[in-house]
Amino acid sequence: MTAPMHPAAAARLDQRFALHRLWEQDDPEAFLRSHGAVIRGIATSTLYGRVDDTLFARLPALEIVASFGVGYDNVDAEVAATRGIVVTNTPGVLDEEVADFTIGLLLATIRRLPQAERFLREGRWPHGPFPLSPTLRGRRVGILGLGGIGKAIARRLEGFDVAIAYHGRTRQEAVAYPWHPTPVALAAACDTLIAILPGNAATRHIVDAAVLKALGPNGVFVNVARGSVVDGEALASALEDGTILAAGLDVFEDEPNVPPALLTSRNAVLLPHIGSASEYTRAAMGALVADNLMAWFENGHALTPVAETRF
Ligand code: NAP
Ligand code: 8YV
Repeated sequence: MTAPMHPAAAARLDQRFALHRLWEQDDPEAFLRSHGAVIRGIATSTLYGRVDDTLFARLPALEIVASFGVGYDNVDAEVAATRGIVVTNTPGVLDEEVADFTIGLLLATIRRLPQAERFLREGRWPHGPFPLSPTLRGRRVGILGLGGIGKAIARRLEGFDVAIAYHGRTRQEAVAYPWHPTPVALAAACDTLIAILPGNAATRHIVDAAVLKALGPNGVFVNVARGSVVDGEALASALEDGTILAAGLDVFEDEPNVPPALLTSRNAVLLPHIGSASEYTRAAMGALVADNLMAWFENGHALTPVAETRF
């Protein structure tokens, strides 16, 4: 295990395997030199950093990387495939939690709930009411990445009586929401954009200055995907100069570091990557990491291999 994970998952792995906790080693490098040749599986998460060829080269017996999280941009899955190493993630078990959270962040951003709470705590209420906020009423919401979580967000939004549209690389025949062929076209048709797609080379800065301009001065951008999907400088400028109205951000390019321009922005709601971070859902994610490792070492079939694991 490369970094701390849910305690229940670690406890299960401890019972079944000889589990080594890399972060607890006095000298992790020396540990990899002395034990690397016998390590057959890894449980990892974004807390460790990237699992790539540098690490694979030091673990010649490695068969499987079980990653904690549905997004697996922390693992070089293409290189793993060329080495015959299985990579698994944790899809599905967090969809409803992250969708609940996204609705919360969307409403917090539009109705300025954190700003209003700060206003109250700072003793400003007796001097006059909190200013009127923008509204969700009448909004047209674009979902960038209508996968498992995007669909769970859309289902919830139907109850809020707003228009829903989406962009993905392909139009989904079974989906009735309007599809737009590019992110700019989606933004132009909407005033609220929710990013919930994987972070990778193809999606890097997919939300750029042109997309933010198309979203417009009443535009609200919510990012629960990865920090890499938005051009951070373009976003900070768009918030500062009124190109868009507000942003709700759970993810950042260089976590846990947040750009100063965002920290001082009065129309951004900033959260420390907590979309799935409830006790309930983190336990389910940890259980799926453990289940993948058990299944692989018991019958050679991982439960939730990623797309790059094609063997
Ligand atoms: P998913 O079911 O695989 O869905 C991903 C969606 O993104 C698909 O609809 C896919 O549609 C679309 N997509 C992929 N590549 C694209 C591209 N280049 N351009 C446009 N659309 C693209 O994944 P999910 O479970 O919904 O999770 C999505 C992502 O959310 C994760 O990868 C992770 O980064 C992020 N996430 C964040 C948190 C958090 O705590 N904030 C929690 C969970 C997940 P097409 O294939 O049709 O393009
Ligand atoms: C996790 C996430 O918090 O699943 C994902 O893609 O972003 C989150 O649920 C993160 O991956 C922890 O490692």
